[in-house]
Amino acid sequence: MKIKVKIYSDKYTAYNIIIGNDIFNNLSGIITDNFRANKYFVIIDTNVFRSYSKIIRKQLSNKNFISELIILPSGEKEKNIKNVLDISNSLLSKGADRKSAIIAIGGGVVGDIAGFISSIYMRGIPIIHIPTSLIAQVDSSIGGKTAIDIPKGKNILGSFNQPNLVLTDINFLKSLDESEYRNGLSEVVKYGIISGTGLFNKLERNINSIKKRDTKFLANIISTCVKIKKGIVEKDEKENNLRRILNFGHTIGHAIESASVYKVPHGRAVASGMIIASRISAELFGLKQNDLNRIEELINKLGLDYGIPEFVRTNDILNAIKNDKKKSGKIITFIMLRKIGLPLITNKIPTGILKKEIDKLRNSNIIKANLSRS
Ligand code: GLY
Repeated sequence: MKIKVKIYSDKYTAYNIIIGNDIFNNLSGIITDNFRANKYFVIIDTNVFRSYSKIIRKQLSNKNFISELIILPSGEKEKNIKNVLDISNSLLSKGADRKSAIIAIGGGVVGDIAGFISSIYMRGIPIIHIPTSLIAQVDSSIGGKTAIDIPKGKNILGSFNQPNLVLTDINFLKSLDESEYRNGLSEVVKYGIISGTGLFNKLERNINSIKKRDTKFLANIISTCVKIKKGIVEKDEKENNLRRILNFGHTIGHAIESASVYKVPHGRAVASGMIIASRISAELFGLKQNDLNRIEELINKLGLDYGIPEFVRTNDILNAIKNDKKKSGKIITFIMLRKIGLPLITNKIPTGILKKEIDKLRNSNIIKANLSRS
């Protein structure tokens, strides 16, 4: 399936997202058919390279596909300025120029750092994303956000840099470890909650296909998520307004991650953030109890991990919310719900309600943990 994204904001950009299940085996051919460059620079992380080295070496040896390989160690801590400099030096010494293209193969970390480099190397060169995790396939490879971390904060240096092509191969998901898969499922549930009711209903009816990672079903779900995100970023590339709804569950989720010093995985933090945001929506914005129950049930039935561990203090979460990097002055934006499929953007959430709901989620989980121990 081919989905075209068209961005009309500062400059017109359009690119294709190709979704299938036999892309990686034909990589060099598909890339040269869809995006021509004088030389391709593959940036890949160690883990993905280890798992697919045979196919990658075979693809890179294709004579029509002039390429170089740059391997980056895996993990969020690699999203740093030193790697930006090291990779840029490698690009220069291996002969990358403005007619070259970067190919980022991996999850969000590789996509973020390679995307950032492509936006500044020689004032910008093209980038092709090949996302290998579910979260990268439905979220980070689309929409052009790039970033690296600095010691004082996550994603502080970055740019909006739309890719030139995205190739999404569902087969990567077969070998994805369970916690990574669940990280991505949290984002899939988010799309289901913020955009109409079609995706949400489909997720509710197909729990087993999702758990079994049924290739056909996943292709369908991923293309639905991609179409939702495309519709949003086409209208608001730079997150001035509408794009903020993609942050449903994330203001609180990011604060949980940061207060836990990144020990709580993104998926668990976002699932917790979505539950808290939904409960507050029921209290303040008229979300019906039935919708709230359906959201919590879907998260439970999919087996998504959520909850706030004892070592993460409520005050640290509240402080992290106050320092949210997306705040404007003192105003912090939250995405809430009027009903499933109908989000609203607000900055009027009293701290007392946030505190109450964070504590409630923490306590209900302690009760659950105690029960399972007895
Ligand atoms: N991940 C949220 C966005 O791309 O805006």
